[in-house]
Amino acid sequence: MRIYLIGYMGCGKSTLGLKLAGELDLTFIDLDKFLEERNYKTVPQIFSEFGEEGFRLRERRALEEVSEFTDVVVATGGGAPCFYDNMELMNRTGITVFLDIETSIIAERLIKSKTERPLIAGKSKAELVRFIQESLKKRKPFYEQAQLRISKPDGALNEIIAEIRQKK
Ligand code: S3P
Repeated sequence: MRIYLIGYMGCGKSTLGLKLAGELDLTFIDLDKFLEERNYKTVPQIFSEFGEEGFRLRERRALEEVSEFTDVVVATGGGAPCFYDNMELMNRTGITVFLDIETSIIAERLIKSKTERPLIAGKSKAELVRFIQESLKKRKPFYEQAQLRISKPDGALNEIIAEIRQKK
């Protein structure tokens, strides 16, 4: 079994992914961490050395690699579904789950988060909210190609597991 969690930065993919992996006895993979290990560089280093294009290429390569692993839950980076034919690759090789969380909650979480995210570095709260709204407009058509959609990842673990089991 292979499950891909997709959705905007800060929507809780890693938190949910860890819980799901524990419940379903699968291995959890954070795609950003995986590609950092493969490239011996952090995500911010990759962005500053190779630009976003270089990051997306490395992200694609990492995704191709994990798409051959079995019994994994993969938390993908927020942009991963929106480049190349990554969404098609994930839909073909696993169960895709979109964590559809409200902009205001995402903004709150991103402000508190300690993870360095080059695309939103240095933005004020107002700028961040505007940026999220604009980029979500472009990203939603990709996210919406997921097989399952969840709007409340925090309290809905059992429901998610039941839906995943049905899909299997
Ligand atoms: C990105 C999201 C990040 C990371 C990179 C770019 C994006 O992952 O891949 O900073 O384009 O939305 P998270 O969604 O885990 O923050």
